[in-house]
Amino acid sequence: MNWLYHDHRKFESLVYQCRTASDAGDWEIVKGLVEQLLVAYESHVAIEEQILFPAYEAHPGAPAEPTEALKSDHVQIFRLFRHVAKQLEDDIPASVADDLAMLFRTLARHHEKEEQIFLPMASEALYADKDAILADLETRFGASSA
Ligand SMILES: [Fe+2]
Ligand SMILES: [Fe+2]
Repeated sequence: MNWLYHDHRKFESLVYQCRTASDAGDWEIVKGLVEQLLVAYESHVAIEEQILFPAYEAHPGAPAEPTEALKSDHVQIFRLFRHVAKQLEDDIPASVADDLAMLFRTLARHHEKEEQIFLPMASEALYADKDAILADLETRFGASSA
């Protein structure tokens, strides 16, 4: 699951760069970074919601709450992303700096939950299905660095 940790650090670093660029008023840089982030985050979440979470949920007795909570975080994170993107598009970046700070905190908390709660809890189920998960990842996303 190295790709998951790697993606998380990359997203946190990109949001941090957005925040720095917004403090400097470099709105074109912020726009470019936000676009890049949104595309990368959509693909990360697709892997989680289409492969990882279902692999865990399919195991008998696996409680639904952990993945429900993570999916609801995703909805909130995309809402924040879209809110920032809309302000940039409309050239009214008044609260973008605050929104980026909120996005950073929300992302960091979400990543912590995935790394420190979900993965340890799901590791047995995911490990049992490791080959199927890797094959699915490769077929659907071309990702092979699990
Ligand atoms: Fe996630
Ligand atoms: Fe994630």
